[in-house]
Amino acid sequence: MKKRQPPVFFLAVVAFIVSLLIFRFGIRPPIPSSLFYTYVAATLGAILLWATSSEEALAEFVRPIKATIVKDDLRWLRLLFILLLPIVMGYVAYSQASVEIQPPAELRVIHPAPPASITVHGKQLAIEGLRNPLRAAKDFQAKKAEYLAEGRRIYFQNCFFCHGDKFAGEGHFAQGFNPSPANLADPGTIAQLQESYVFWRISKGGPGLPDQSTPWNSAMPAWENMLSTDEIWKVVLYIYEATDQQPRTWEAGHGQEASK
Ligand code: HEC
Repeated sequence: MKKRQPPVFFLAVVAFIVSLLIFRFGIRPPIPSSLFYTYVAATLGAILLWATSSEEALAEFVRPIKATIVKDDLRWLRLLFILLLPIVMGYVAYSQASVEIQPPAELRVIHPAPPASITVHGKQLAIEGLRNPLRAAKDFQAKKAEYLAEGRRIYFQNCFFCHGDKFAGEGHFAQGFNPSPANLADPGTIAQLQESYVFWRISKGGPGLPDQSTPWNSAMPAWENMLSTDEIWKVVLYIYEATDQQPRTWEAGHGQEASK
């Protein structure tokens, strides 16, 4: 009597499914899909090679396939394939062609109008017309170096992680945020703004932004919770000085730089 062949077709299918599961879930971190398909193709090749390695194995491998196609008592299975195949293909085609539902694009106002006045550390400040009190004081020139040294310390202890050592918004954490931290060295940010506007943005941060700037999107902290009023004005001084920019002044109105 002939030795009975193992169920080659069944084993081939099981081996293929197991290898799919291993490539998909067994490799950490997950591999890119191009590599995944390369592995799958190589495995499929190896399985087919094994299944067709001898006359007997080949005969055993194609037996269930042939039986399904020609045998009368497997008619139900044949019918199942005939029904399932177009359904599966239809689903694949549909899922590739269908458009995914996307959230609407948000239009974010980067420099929204500030509130008329804000309350920081119990003191109410009107934004419009307000100058940096340190800069406005008579002893400013005498104290400037001291303020800037303080501002520098404050910046590198608090802001640099996001806004970066070059003020370009490329700090260590910057990659993690959307919108990304403002590039303070760019002519489009603080160079366009009055110091009181910048004071508002630093003290109230992302949570203090009005709705059109989608406050929940900004990682900018509200620094009034960590810094004193004086410290905020000092860091304002420092970021202008360090980026070699002039704040916009109120006297000249919007859009103009006043002569000093
Ligand atoms: C956790 C990260 C993070 C830290 C730390 C941080 N910021 Fe920001 N900052 C942001 C992000 C993000 C934005 C942009 C979104 C926005 O305008 O709120 C921003 C915006 C700003 C703006 C507004 C610029 C503009 O053009 O409107 C200023 C000014 C600013 N930051 C200054 C500071 C200062 C000063 C400090 C330190 C006291 C600081 N930031 C610390 C993340 C940070």
